[in-house]
Amino acid sequence: MARYALLVQPSANRVYAQASVGLTVAELQIVDERALGGVLADIAEETIGGARYVTFEADALDDRAVAHLSQVSTAFALFEVVGDLLRPVTLTPLAAYDDDLLTVLKYAGKTNETFTHLLLHATLLFRERPGELLDGSLRVLDPMCGRGTTLNQALRWGHDAVGLDLDRKDVEAYASFLGRWLKDKRLKHTIATTRVRHEGQRPTRRTDATLAPTKADWAAGRTQQVTILHADTLRAGELVKRRSVDAVVTDAPYGVQHGSRHPEHGLARGPLELLAEAVPVWVELLRPGGALGIAWNTRVAPREDLTALLEKAGLEVADGAGYTSLRHRVDSSILRDVVVARRPAGAAT
Ligand SMILES: C[S@@+](CC[C@H](N)C(=O)[O-])C[C@H]1O[C@@H](n2cnc3c(N)ncnc32)[C@H](O)[C@@H]1O
Repeated sequence: MARYALLVQPSANRVYAQASVGLTVAELQIVDERALGGVLADIAEETIGGARYVTFEADALDDRAVAHLSQVSTAFALFEVVGDLLRPVTLTPLAAYDDDLLTVLKYAGKTNETFTHLLLHATLLFRERPGELLDGSLRVLDPMCGRGTTLNQALRWGHDAVGLDLDRKDVEAYASFLGRWLKDKRLKHTIATTRVRHEGQRPTRRTDATLAPTKADWAAGRTQQVTILHADTLRAGELVKRRSVDAVVTDAPYGVQHGSRHPEHGLARGPLELLAEAVPVWVELLRPGGALGIAWNTRVAPREDLTALLEKAGLEVADGAGYTSLRHRVDSSILRDVVVARRPAGAAT
């Protein structure tokens, strides 16, 4: 058995304060359970030369295992521990586009990019076929997408993305950012905004973009699609095809500055009321075997309530050691947690 040491991104401390190493341990447990077949032993925190690492033991890691480990949201560098020396293992994270796709836009209410990475990663790993997250063939829906942090993360990993948000300013800001960014980067693309009318409802603004990381990919038709819609998430079933997404990933309103807006009941304090109505709508859009991941503020909605709601919608909730250790403090009013669940592969229509 060899021993490995994963160096945690120093910037992760800004997001999670003291929790970053603990969250890295949890994310590694998830990777191990879902993608590596339980081959990691003794996952633990350790300080080496004054820096914080997460160490573990494993037999030699093949390229696929390194690719999975490279997706850990806080991974900065990986080493094999040889005596008291560290031998670098080159990480190979998915990065179809520059990381400024995620960092350029700054705004109040943005979900931190590192946390969004963790949320998307933990969710895609819980799908029936977790290995596919490395293959760039999935379609991710964020049904309350704000200015698109989840969509951009999915694009950067090579996947397609679709997002909905009720806030028109957010949707417009994302669409204009994306157009500008694609132009500045001189990437081959098309982008267009249209209005769609559905069953007598008010018209919805919809922006569709097609892009590719390189000219060769574009020429070969290896393109990615991203769509963003200005709509209430409860209308997702009219606007997104049934069983057309592999994952639903969202950071729910925190009930603090970003209240959940319910179309009839106005601004609700907690997100539970909205989620109780929205989850059954989202589940219909998931392909069987697909997964759903929600981040929320436990100060306004207890975990058991969310779990019960997902089970009621016919989902299997992830209860492995990693999946139940993702709770962390964001600030004095937000204690964030993540719940992940799967639509059973054999789900009836
Ligand atoms: C925590 S924010 C998500 C931020 C996003 N992840 C980002 O980084 O930009 C929650 C979002 O839920 C949206 N929202 C609240 N109620 C909604 C509803 N009924 N339908 C669609 N979006 C809703 C808000 O407009 C807000 O953008």
